[in-house]
Amino acid sequence: MTQKLQFPKGFLWGAASSAYQTEGGNTNNDWCVWEKSVRRVDFLRANGKNPDDFCAGIACDFWNRFDEDFSLARLLNHSATRFGLEWSRIEPQEGVFDEKALDHYEKMLQSAKFHGLTVFLTLHHYTNPLWFAKQGGFLNRKSAAKFSRYVTKVADRLGQYVDFWLTINEPEVYSSHSYFFAKYPPQEHSFWKTWRVVQNLIRAHNSAAKILKSKTGKPVSMAYQLADWEPAGFFSHFTHIMVEYLANEYILNRTIGTCDFIGVNYYVHHHVGVLGMRQHSLTHHDVTDLGWGIHPEGLEHVLLSLKRHKKPIYVTENGLADARDAKREKYIKDHLYHLYMAIKGGADVRGYLYWSLTDNFEWAEGFWPRFGLVEIDRDDLLRRRVRHSALKYAEICKSNELEY
Ligand code: BGC
Repeated sequence: MTQKLQFPKGFLWGAASSAYQTEGGNTNNDWCVWEKSVRRVDFLRANGKNPDDFCAGIACDFWNRFDEDFSLARLLNHSATRFGLEWSRIEPQEGVFDEKALDHYEKMLQSAKFHGLTVFLTLHHYTNPLWFAKQGGFLNRKSAAKFSRYVTKVADRLGQYVDFWLTINEPEVYSSHSYFFAKYPPQEHSFWKTWRVVQNLIRAHNSAAKILKSKTGKPVSMAYQLADWEPAGFFSHFTHIMVEYLANEYILNRTIGTCDFIGVNYYVHHHVGVLGMRQHSLTHHDVTDLGWGIHPEGLEHVLLSLKRHKKPIYVTENGLADARDAKREKYIKDHLYHLYMAIKGGADVRGYLYWSLTDNFEWAEGFWPRFGLVEIDRDDLLRRRVRHSALKYAEICKSNELEY
């Protein structure tokens, strides 16, 4: 028997994206340079891949087609949107701000507002301006001050259009993938560098949050990637506690003091073995096109675990790669059911942003993983095609309830 689950009044519904993954035409940052580097190109060729398929290039041309995308979001009954700024456009050289780029972002924000969308704006989502990367990026002791200078400019110039600020996206993923697992630029394998970057990201957030609040008075958070961790067996309890602390709690505990809400990106559930972490848990789970186990219960666990902070929570990302759109509707509904159960259990969750509005550039994986509610046809001038699941999600957004 299905039941109708009513979400709290004013609950925000929408979808998220990031600058580099959608805008196109970004050539002045460390990702773009890395994509074309000899190391990367040789690696891709050695694996039988065409390096051109792994460059963001024009991406979704969101830089030019933002109004079309915001208007689609509105047609799909979204009440909120999350997108990002590309720091390297705004501050192409150290201390030099590009007013034209800021004007353009102002137009984007005005368009989002025109379409009635509440705006979550991300200030840093994995990419760094080249000048900043050349100085060591977030390894540099002065990085927090440099980030704050950019944040100050943005707050002054664009603050009036922003409802929620997200300072840094997934500090855990950014630091570990770039400096420990060597998956993202600058592809390092160093525990100490990872640690240093984490410390500087914490400083950068705490300082940015103060600036944003004093200048705009709008709520601030990081977008934390919080996975659901489970011990694989009796003997792994200790490792589980350690891994969960390092991956989910350490950065959160050190930044929560300057956050007004908690932005949660939830994707995966892991089993932790005695010696550390296992890959994405596959037991009894359906998987996404990227092979990630689908585990909606984990969202409920994560949200309930945040109750103790006594702050509003927004799910700032949750979604799957599913090119055939065969699993997306169920995925969304199952996750929303568990989000609803977390609310019933006392978690103050006030919004849900599906990742992502459109298909986009999935970092080191290139364009093949399809996360979008809206398909981007890369063989037909980046034409937007609304997927069936987007219409199903639109019904939920409109009614503020889930039939489950
Ligand atoms: C990131 C997005 C990414 C998504 C899917 C998140 O961790 O913030 O940029 O596309 O996961 O992998």
